[in-house]
Amino acid sequence: MHLNIIISAFALAGTALASINTTREYHLRTQLRPGQGNKKQFDGLWLVASHTGAGLNDAVLYANKTYAIKGFENATNITQPNGQPYFNQLFDLGGDFPWDLYVADVNFYSAWEPVRINAGSGAGGFFMNSSGLQFNENPTNAAETNAFGGWLVCDWWHGVPQLFMKWSYYHYDNPSSCADINLLPVYI
Ligand SMILES: *[C@@H]1O[C@H](CO)[C@@H](O)[C@H](O)[C@H]1NC(C)=O
Ligand SMILES: *[C@@H]1O[C@H](CO)[C@@H](O)[C@H](O)[C@H]1NC(C)=O
Ligand SMILES: *[C@@H]1O[C@H](CO)[C@@H](O)[C@H](O)[C@H]1NC(C)=O
Ligand SMILES: *[C@@H]1O[C@H](CO)[C@@H](O)[C@H](O)[C@H]1NC(C)=O
Ligand SMILES: *[C@@H]1O[C@H](CO)[C@@H](O)[C@H](O)[C@H]1NC(C)=O
Repeated sequence: MHLNIIISAFALAGTALASINTTREYHLRTQLRPGQGNKKQFDGLWLVASHTGAGLNDAVLYANKTYAIKGFENATNITQPNGQPYFNQLFDLGGDFPWDLYVADVNFYSAWEPVRINAGSGAGGFFMNSSGLQFNENPTNAAETNAFGGWLVCDWWHGVPQLFMKWSYYHYDNPSSCADINLLPVYI
């Protein structure tokens, strides 16, 4: 899988970001969801890409805005029930090609999954509402209940808060090092 992503990074190197509509860029910032008063350290953090290999990053969150990454929406040809398109959540990390928010389905039987920011442009399934960035892992199947259970931020393996996605069909208590958050766009 890593190999595929590295190859696609090279294939994408020819995609000039200048030709992409990035007119409405935003940073993504955490908003602590209600009822977690003792988790204030996870509120107001900025989404950052933490390098893990060629073309690969884990999604982490910093309190300072210094490394906050610039996101933009790239509409897909799949339509939400409200008529708006689902989009690819892309980022301009300053290079020649886009980066793609991607929920890594590492284990079907785990209650949450890590989130990557890899070179690429087509994970799809994202939409915005007043609670910020939302996800649908199977957007083409309108009949299926959306299994997205929200965003989770945890002190984890990079020594800084890290982003995860929860599946809605598990109802475990969060570990003490994790909090439920919204990811709100802060337009640039
Ligand atoms: C670019 O995106 C902005 C904001 O989403 C939109 O208003 C504008 O029409 C788009 N421009 C083009 C050329 O698609
Ligand atoms: C921003 O936060 C990160 C993670 O906590 C830290 O490594 C970095 O030094 C901070 N940068 C500044 C300019 O404060
Ligand atoms: C929708 O876009 C995908 C690539 O993202 C493409 O493979 C597919 O053919 C497109 N479908 C239509 C109906 O345009
Ligand atoms: C955004 O989507 C359009 C098709 O809707 C595609 O042509 C374009 O390459 C995409 N941009 C990126 C950066 O993937
Ligand atoms: C936003 O979408 C989520 C689904 O991802 C839904 O649970 C939530 O109720 C929506 N929020 C609002 C304010 O509509």
